Amino acid sequence: MTVTQAEAQPTPVPPDRDSAVLKKPVLKKPVPNKGATPVVAFLGTGRMGGPMAANLARGGFSVRAWNRTRSRAEALTADGAVVAASPAQAVRGATIVITMLADGPATEQAATGPDGFLAAAPGATWAQMATIGIEWTDRLAGLAAAHDVVFVDAPVSGSEGPATAGQLAILASGPDQVRDVLAPVFGALGRSTAWLGRAGQGTRAKLVLNNWLADLTETTAETLSFARRLGLDPADIVDLLQANPLGAPYAVQKARAMLAGDFSPAFALKHALKDAELAAQAAQANGAALTLTSALLPRWRLTAASGHADDDLAAVYLTA
Ligand SMILES: NC(=O)c1ccc[n+]([C@@H]2O[C@H](COP(=O)([O-])OP(=O)(O)OC[C@H]3O[C@@H](n4cnc5c(N)ncnc54)[C@H](OP(=O)(O)O)[C@@H]3O)[C@@H](O)[C@H]2O)c1
Repeated sequence: MTVTQAEAQPTPVPPDRDSAVLKKPVLKKPVPNKGATPVVAFLGTGRMGGPMAANLARGGFSVRAWNRTRSRAEALTADGAVVAASPAQAVRGATIVITMLADGPATEQAATGPDGFLAAAPGATWAQMATIGIEWTDRLAGLAAAHDVVFVDAPVSGSEGPATAGQLAILASGPDQVRDVLAPVFGALGRSTAWLGRAGQGTRAKLVLNNWLADLTETTAETLSFARRLGLDPADIVDLLQANPLGAPYAVQKARAMLAGDFSPAFALKHALKDAELAAQAAQANGAALTLTSALLPRWRLTAASGHADDDLAAVYLTA
């Protein structure tokens, strides 16, 4: 594995932003984009994609943004980005395409659906940065190859705060020859890029990391619930955890959000559930037992279905 650090070293921030205990993310100074300005097509300007595209535009890239709901992309024009009417229109003239859509089906739709970008982008490099799982990654890599597009699998670790601060950890995999082309782009988006091997390895690493996140969140929710049922003040337990190495910063942050009833989304439960399901499928296909994840899934599905899909994943505390 090769790990490169971004050129401008910002103050590190924790992997999420939605906690009273966290400081506001420190905005990284835009990484100067030396040389010719590559045109970057950015597809999917949601919670993550919006600030990522903004960082590219502020970093000197010529950004052409597309989003299904156009209004969600309009704010990017303030940073100099151009909003396109379709994926195909966005990639016209672009040498780099980034997708940050919800999941595999949405990404395939943007790639090969009506006005899809793949047919309009021969020779381009496509960095797929959403979390879509192994099967979708393989499928999209095949579609890219059939359209003479270089496919790079590059999901990210870090939520809305790090996305805004340009401090994501990028889990990249794909052909060596495009690393230099992507280095300034990834430099503007993240604090580090880990190159993990052939395309698909980044997604595998992302599933492993998000499985950890899911299990940690579930443990946090159950711990608070357990303490409450024993007649303890769960806030005291959080203080005790924070005061010793058991209290992982992420868990402490989520615990405080749970107790405050603050479920404003940094990472929506629907996406965390998607990732836990992708991890469970990958485990089953590869002979791994994810006992904890299998156990949490039914309750997380119910929590999402009972009106909390768009809340932060901390909402699983409500049913713990
Ligand atoms: N949030 C996090 O903490 C985090 C961290 C790391 C990775 N991720 C991953 O990054 C990806 C994006 O997450 P997010 O938090 O930015 O999600 P989000 O705010 O829900 O944005 C989802 C994006 O996908 C688009 N989309 C959804 N369904 C679509 C469809 N059928 N056709 C076309 N476009 C569609 C949305 O368009 P509209 O605006 O029109 O709905 C929006 O641009 C997900 O794979 C997520 O798992 C998220």
